[in-house]
Amino acid sequence: MFRGILKHMPTTKYPNVVIFDHPLIQHKLTYLRDASTSHRPFRALLYQIAGLMVYEATRSVPVVEVDVQTPMERTKGRRLAGKVTVVPVLRAGLGMAEGVLEMMPEARVGHLGIFRDEQTLKPIAYLKRLPKDLNAGPVLLVDPMLATGGSAAAAITMLHEAGATDLRMICLVAAPEGIAAVTAAAPGMTIYTAAIDERLNEKGYILPGLGDAGDRLYGTG
Ligand code: PRP
Ligand code: URA
Repeated sequence: MFRGILKHMPTTKYPNVVIFDHPLIQHKLTYLRDASTSHRPFRALLYQIAGLMVYEATRSVPVVEVDVQTPMERTKGRRLAGKVTVVPVLRAGLGMAEGVLEMMPEARVGHLGIFRDEQTLKPIAYLKRLPKDLNAGPVLLVDPMLATGGSAAAAITMLHEAGATDLRMICLVAAPEGIAAVTAAAPGMTIYTAAIDERLNEKGYILPGLGDAGDRLYGTG
C-alpha cells in the first residue's frame, strides 16, 4: 500500500514542487524504499532515477540557436546557453550526481559536504568546493532526502552566497517539513521530487521514507 504517499499534490498546496508520477520513476523508487534492496542495486537505481529526473528538471533551461552543418546541408539547432553546475550534498547526493552527469556530461560539479548532527538535527557543513562563476547558468542541487530541510537550507544559503541565481533542487523523497524549510530559504525555487511522504519520526527520519540514504548507498548502515 502507498501509506501516506501523496502521488499528486494539489499545486495550490505546494506550488513550488513538481512530483514525478512517471511509472518508471515510481517503479524504481519502490525498489529504493524496499529494505531488502542492498547497496549495489540501490546505487544503480539512484543513478538511473536521477538521470530520469534531470530530464524534467532541465526542461526550462535557457538554450541558444546555433548553426549546424549536417552531412546534407546547413540548418539551425539549439544548444544549452549557460554552464550547468550540478551540486551534490555529500554523501548521498553523490549517488544522484552521477546519474545527472550521464545525461549532461558537460555539466560542472560543485561539492557541498553537510551532515546532520544526530542529536540536534542541525546541519554541519564541512566542505565547499564550487565553481567561481555559479551565476553562469542553472545550478542543480541534488540530495535524495529532504527531511527537516536543514541541510538543504544550509546548501541553498551557501549557493546563494556563492552567486547562484538559477537554482533548482532535485530530491527523491521529501517531507512536508523539508519543503517548508526550503521554501522559506528560497521562495521562488522549484523542488523536483518523486514523492512527498507523510511525516518525520522523532529522530528526524522520513516516514515511510527509505531509511538513511547515505548508509544505504554506501553499505555503511
Ligand atoms: C542525509 C541526506 C540529507 C540530510 C537530510 O544526509 O542525504 O543531506 O540527511 O536531512 P535534513 O533535511 O533533516 O537536513 P546525512 O546528514 O545523513 O549525511 P551523510 O549522508 O553524509 O551521512
Ligand atoms: N536523512 C536520510 O538519509 N533519511 C531520512 O529519512 C532523513 C534524513
